Amino acid sequence: MPTGKKDETMADTRVIEVRETRGLTGEIRIQGSKNAVLPVMAASLLNRGTTVIRNVPRIQDVFCMIRILRALGCGVKFAGDVLVIEADALTSCEIPADEAEKMRSSIMLCAPLLARLGEVVFGRPGGCSIGRRPIDLHLKVLTETGVSVTETESRMFARTCGLRGALMNLPYPSVGATETALMAAAAAEGSTVLTGAAREPEIEVLCHFLEEMGVQIEGVGSNVLSVRSGEFRRDCEFTIPGDRIVAGTYLGAVMAAGGEVFLRDAPENAMKENLRVAGRMGTRTRTFSNGILVKQDGILRLVILETGPYPGFSTDLQSVMLTAALRADGISRIREMVFEERFATAKELQKLGANIIIEGNTVYVEGGQRLSGASVCARDLRGGAALAVAGLIAEGTTLVDGYPCIARGYEDICGDLQSVGAAIRLIANDRQRV
Ligand code: EPZ
Repeated sequence: MPTGKKDETMADTRVIEVRETRGLTGEIRIQGSKNAVLPVMAASLLNRGTTVIRNVPRIQDVFCMIRILRALGCGVKFAGDVLVIEADALTSCEIPADEAEKMRSSIMLCAPLLARLGEVVFGRPGGCSIGRRPIDLHLKVLTETGVSVTETESRMFARTCGLRGALMNLPYPSVGATETALMAAAAAEGSTVLTGAAREPEIEVLCHFLEEMGVQIEGVGSNVLSVRSGEFRRDCEFTIPGDRIVAGTYLGAVMAAGGEVFLRDAPENAMKENLRVAGRMGTRTRTFSNGILVKQDGILRLVILETGPYPGFSTDLQSVMLTAALRADGISRIREMVFEERFATAKELQKLGANIIIEGNTVYVEGGQRLSGASVCARDLRGGAALAVAGLIAEGTTLVDGYPCIARGYEDICGDLQSVGAAIRLIANDRQRV
């Protein structure tokens, strides 16, 4: 069976073909977390010892980050799910523009590069088109630790004569800006107190990784973090937890298509709100030490939902919940509170015949209507995955274009869903064949 695994450098023009499948059964092993590993890779630049990271997902964003680290002078080996980074001898402070524009997380490299080399040259970062995604909060925390930033039309230049600890506040709990602040604080002289920090589980992972490198952090898991810098001369090993968003995507697939699936290595602690909402909709879940069992055999109840910063409902799972709501009994209402343009997927679902009304940042979804397969396009990573799930509940065949978008964050969505009985595969794009 063809699966999604593909060499990191090949352009991928394949399309996902999904046929209606009801009743998924079996087990899916959940890959390591994308949004945890990317900041950990960035923070490894601080370390002069060897960093070994385990359970690293083989996804395009990780390959992109590896290429950037190599361009900066790091030695990087990636075998299986183990990544070894040697950052002792950095040779460049310039984040390659062509790579940075593919991935939002490139902004995370600024603080560690400033700490190591005193300067960094970078462009405005790319990433999924889900809203404006400014970087003002990243620049705010950098400036507060003693960094000056200048900008030309295409590039930004940041310099420091030495990072200094500071009292900082984030007016909004931005995940990325909290990570930038933590990395700057970890290498700054003196101590830092950050208030208004984001509390996403991936922040906790970054804190634990920094602690592994000798940084002292108080308040881990809360929105006030006190940081005292480390020495960064240790060899260290770190394991990335399971990806709560990938697990939530497959939970959504079972909710939509029905069945019973064990999500091995799904991180229950980080998924509490997701599991609570699934339970409210009538999905049964049972937690074990090594994963979560999901069972959906009755009618799904409608959902009234609002996304928000953690511990609220994750914006990354909004699209898949929208898809599950298409199977629910009644009219659901989902409000997007984090990214202003995250309803592109709703428009694609309409092509399958879904009755969805979009009003500003709110969508109304009528459940229980007949859906028919059609050609749709992944507009962003999580939305693309949700479209693959939608194909399971549409009569006939659905084709999902834009696979590279999905491969940024899912190791092998087709292989994973095939393993629980879904009729899904990657096929060559017809337009390439003619
Ligand atoms: C992280 O993005 C995740 N990415 C996103 O996942 C996730 O959707 C998001 O957090 C929210 O949970 C990674 O971890 C790599 P934010 P990030 O800064 O850090 C505004 C996925 O699919 N903002 O918390 O970019 C921003 O516009 C991705 O895996 C500013 O105004 O998110 C947004 O409205 C997509 N100024 C809000 O804050 C800034 O300087 C939340 O963004 C920064 C952000």
